[in-house]
Amino acid sequence: MIHTRISGTGSYLPGEPVSNAALIAAHGLDSSGEWIVERTGIRSRHLAAEGIACSDLALEASRRALDAAGRKPADVDLIIVATSTPDFVFPSAAALLQHKLGITNGAPAFDVQAVCSGFVYALTIAEKFIASGSHKCALVVGAEVFSRILDWKDRGTCVLFGDGAGAVVLEASDTPGLLASAFHADGSHHGILSVPGQICGGVATGDPFLRMDGQAVFKFAVKVLADVANEVLAAAGMTAAQVDWLIPHQANVRILQATAKKLHIPPEKCIVTVDRHGNTSAASIPLALDDAVRGGKIQRGQHLLLEGVGGGFTWGATLLRF
Ligand code: ACO
Repeated sequence: MIHTRISGTGSYLPGEPVSNAALIAAHGLDSSGEWIVERTGIRSRHLAAEGIACSDLALEASRRALDAAGRKPADVDLIIVATSTPDFVFPSAAALLQHKLGITNGAPAFDVQAVCSGFVYALTIAEKFIASGSHKCALVVGAEVFSRILDWKDRGTCVLFGDGAGAVVLEASDTPGLLASAFHADGSHHGILSVPGQICGGVATGDPFLRMDGQAVFKFAVKVLADVANEVLAAAGMTAAQVDWLIPHQANVRILQATAKKLHIPPEKCIVTVDRHGNTSAASIPLALDDAVRGGKIQRGQHLLLEGVGGGFTWGATLLRF
């Protein structure tokens, strides 16, 4: 049997942290740092400068992940980028990343669009390619420039998000790494979180900004995150008590705390970066993973539970031995 394991992690955040006060001042928002911290836990985020695209962030994160794995770009035979904010309508951010990394071996490259669950989706897809024996070394990336789809006049959404990228190298292995994965979608909830616009005839039509019913998202997120975590724990024959680190999508510190509580996982075992990163959508899980690996919290051999939920709605989880 072919197993898969993460052999290296990397991440990249553009520019300097932007505090709540600086964001409020820059956009003239009727808000306060206290409101944002109390309702979301967010204190700062990073925002990409004009001209910096999704694939630029993905490139830096990928280089760091490859270094950590001891791999060269030429070793990569599959590239998947999870993003909802790619450089172009097409080609994919993954194809651009392949080019920027100098990979010329014809490795397939494609994007996955599952919003904030995108990284878990991409990891699950890559695992299936490797487990089938068709590929051996995948670069799996979450990269976003959500600042480009925010309505800076909507204080209820623009304070929540940030830009960044995280990446892992996923390789075939003799010993188990990824233990169980699950991913789901229910498009009937599309109305509570969406960017309901498109490019048509050379102009943006509809509404090209992120729109959200925050309270509906909150309730939905806590329910499905707990359900899908229990689903992968059951599939692997494990209990929540055996999880060393819970690494949820970093949407809001209250969602993280509520999910950990529902799973009976102590808050100190939950990796939290939303305070410094904001919600970076598909990038948030690999960013949090790399932050905790490089910060010395996560050690080889520990059990990690990654889980995400996002617009669609989509949701998923992966349980792994790091
Ligand atoms: N500053 C000050 N006041 C604000 C702000 C702001 N930035 N944003 C909203 N308000 C106001 C509202 O206008 C409202 O005012 P009103 O009472 O006069 O009408 C008041 O604050 C309360 O608004 P609510 O929306 O009820 O506030 P709530 O406590 O629900 O917090 C929040 C809003 C933070 C969005 C919350 O609903 C939430 O976290 N939801 C989850 C959504 C989320 O995390 N989305 C991320 C994307 S989805 C994902 O990643 C899965």
